[in-house]
Amino acid sequence: MNEIRTVTHAENVKLSEDGASVVIIDQTQLPNRVEYLTLNRAEDCFDAIATLKVRGAPAIGIFAGYALYVLARQFQNLPYEEFAQKVHEVKEYLNSSRPTAVNLSWVLNRMEGVVRDNAELPVPEIVERLHEECVKIHQEDINMCRKISEYGLSLLHDGDGILTHCNAGPLATSRYGTALGPILLGTERGMKFHVFADETRPLLQGARLTSFELQKAGVDVTLICDNMASIVMKNGWVNACFVGCDRIAANGDFANKIGTSGVAILAKYYGIPFYTLGPTSTIDLNCPTGEDIKIELRDPEEIKEKFYREPMALKEVKCYNPAFDVTDHTLVTGIVTEKGICRPPYTESLRKLFE
Ligand code: MRU
Repeated sequence: MNEIRTVTHAENVKLSEDGASVVIIDQTQLPNRVEYLTLNRAEDCFDAIATLKVRGAPAIGIFAGYALYVLARQFQNLPYEEFAQKVHEVKEYLNSSRPTAVNLSWVLNRMEGVVRDNAELPVPEIVERLHEECVKIHQEDINMCRKISEYGLSLLHDGDGILTHCNAGPLATSRYGTALGPILLGTERGMKFHVFADETRPLLQGARLTSFELQKAGVDVTLICDNMASIVMKNGWVNACFVGCDRIAANGDFANKIGTSGVAILAKYYGIPFYTLGPTSTIDLNCPTGEDIKIELRDPEEIKEKFYREPMALKEVKCYNPAFDVTDHTLVTGIVTEKGICRPPYTESLRKLFE
């Protein structure tokens, strides 16, 4: 398997062979360099999430699971109470690295639950249970992506044009991805699609990651600037929009990369079906509507300077840089999960998934 194929087949987050570190592909270096980082300090793990070296809601979750295990190993000589306290502190710290994707807290809570539920065991055995849990979380994600890909593929036809925003492929998850999963699976089965990848300003996940993954997988992909989505839809080149999600509220509103709601509004105008695809771990029934989702604000430097040879705006110019927006449930044709495709009314169809 060559280096590029490895990238699209999701060796993007894994444990080192000795289990003492978590190893990631530094996504900020793609598509020009495939660089691996070996992390075993809490600050470096925090930084990897905050600076998007590892990114995409499910991949952040998988990473956080491995990171918590790696860090917990370092406390395994402590008595239980102190061990549990240290794990709790690290958990809270990692959880504060990015606020919007629910997968982060979902995984960290699950890992801390293992520490609580096995309090009667010797600490090294609890650490072993943590190891089992983080490997299980990763495996579950691989299985979920595969199922999401199958359900998503049932919505597509050979020859379809698909527009996607940001990156919800293997790099953002495990194998296949969510929004890109049906496209990659269908391509493996000999189907042909034409994908329009929004470049996704300001951090260019669509250009740097989505067009990279699809091109390397042999998919016919065309990169467009975000403001070109309307014209490709008007030209009749888009049969469906497939995007990922970072948090889905109980009523079907969902947060995803900034610009997603604009794509959904355009799709509604042009009568194009608009789907979000994500695992049930991205659904947050404790969040009644999109109004309750916390939106991450990022450094203005990302708009003014990053990726430019010199600044493209005066230093004193104000910038507003929300990393995500919320798409209203009324714009969503369906929510594709590993348990099936939810249709409106989402308050009912999403709740049923957990019954
Ligand atoms: O800021 P990012 O790059 O982490 O944002 C990622 C997205 O918005 C993805 O669409 C989402 O996390 C789903 S990934 C399967």
